Amino acid sequence: MLNRLMFPLAILSVLAACGKPPEAPATTGASDFATYCAACHGAGGKGDGTRSASLDPAPTDLTTIAARNGGTFPRAKVMTQIWGYARATPTPEMPGYATLLAGEMVLYDSGDGILTPTPLRLVELMEYVQKL
Ligand code: HEC
Repeated sequence: MLNRLMFPLAILSVLAACGKPPEAPATTGASDFATYCAACHGAGGKGDGTRSASLDPAPTDLTTIAARNGGTFPRAKVMTQIWGYARATPTPEMPGYATLLAGEMVLYDSGDGILTPTPLRLVELMEYVQKL
């Protein structure tokens, strides 16, 4: 009887000693861009990814977003475009990434002076696109 009790208890204490389960490998804006965006937009964001030739409309050149917007990078707009819900004409060509980027939230001021709860990975990805 004692042995039958001790064995599960021993397993439990070993599990408890292990602490938290290992976390998923950390992502960065750069790694998310390489994994999810470069195939269409190109490694440098110029719209020349390997899949770009077959897409209509073609992926845009992400390095000219600020220039096309009067010199200001529209951070909130770009985040909603990546997220998916603000696209005027959602097309299968540019997928939405809401599910993928959901997770840890941060308070982020995208330029309007208001700290808005925003997914961290979305912020990191947008800031990476801004630097392209
Ligand atoms: C399957 C191809 C594809 C993938 C993958 C893709 N995009 Fe796009 N993206 C497009 C196309 C095509 C457009 C332009 C047409 C449209 O508006 O639907 C676009 C438009 C955009 C725009 C609007 C740019 C502008 O010039 O105003 C942004 C920002 C953007 N993509 C960022 C991203 C990011 C960041 C990722 C990765 C998370 C990504 N895209 C993944 C195809 C893709």
